[in-house]
Parts: sequence; structure tokens; C-alpha cells
Amino acid sequence: MKVLMVCLGNICRSPLAEGILRHKSQEKGLNWHIESAGTGAWHVGQAPDPRSQRVAKQHGIDISKQRAQQFSPYHIEMFDLIFAMDSSNYQDIIRHAKTDAEKNKIQLIMNMVEPGMNKAVPDPYYDDHLYATVYQMLDEACDNIISKYAINN
Ligand code: 4NP
Repeated sequence: MKVLMVCLGNICRSPLAEGILRHKSQEKGLNWHIESAGTGAWHVGQAPDPRSQRVAKQHGIDISKQRAQQFSPYHIEMFDLIFAMDSSNYQDIIRHAKTDAEKNKIQLIMNMVEPGMNKAVPDPYYDDHLYATVYQMLDEACDNIISKYAINN
């Protein structure tokens, strides 16, 4: 299974989602390929925000080696599953999907926890206090991603 996590800057939410899902998939012995990307290009090449690195480390996950990349329409062909953090990311991605099969790869990540509710993972960039909440949301979503998709791969 190839999974892409997408947010705006690729330094706060999606790198955390990438690190959490990689950690959980490795714990389960799954041979999954996981990356993350941002719809914006401002932070390309940068390590995750120190606040995301810190909250990951508090849970035993090292995301310091990850580097930001910009989302490209090619990612839709390359990946099996693409998870957007909020509806703005979702709209930015889905407009590049050429077929229904491609559209079906793309979903809001919190719909893995509360299906159909279209909840956003809040952007913590301007609010230090949100990192712990964001971590808990992504942790639960990643558990459910594994439960749902590990059967086939
Ligand atoms: P992220 O947070 O999308 O979770 O990585 C942001 C990081 C940087 C910016 C916006 C959101 N920015 O505008 O630079």
C-alpha cells in the first residue's frame, strides 16, 4: 500500500501523519510506502516544524529526517491512498484527479474516524497548543487506516 498524507505547508500536520502511520505500519510488519506533501511550496526541502518533531518524539517517533515536498498531480497516479488534512487541501488535490478511480483514492483523513463528517485536522502553525490535539487526532485516524487497509496488503 502506498499512502500520501497532504497538508498546506508539509511541515506541521502531514509530516506528523506520515511519521505516525509509518511507525504503526512497521509495528504491524506491513510493507507500506508512506510519504507526505504540501499543496504550497514555501517549505520544500525543510525538516518538520520543531513543534511537530517534539510531539512526535514524546510518543517515541522520530520525524526529524523527513523533508518537505510539494504535492504534484503525479502523486495521484503513484499512490493508492491520499489523505488530506482539511477541505482546502482536499479541493486542491481532487481537482487534479482525472478519473473516478483517481478521485476515490483521495479522502479527508478525519473521515476515517467519523465517516462523512468532513472534519478538519486544525492547522497548528499559529497555535502552539494545538500540536497535542493534532497528534491525538492523527493517531486515531492512522489506527483506523491500518485496520481498514491492512487486510489487502
Ligand atoms: P501545515 O501547517 O499545513 O500543517 O504544514 C502550515 C505550515 C506553514 C504554513 C501554513 C500551514 N505557511 O503558511 O507557511
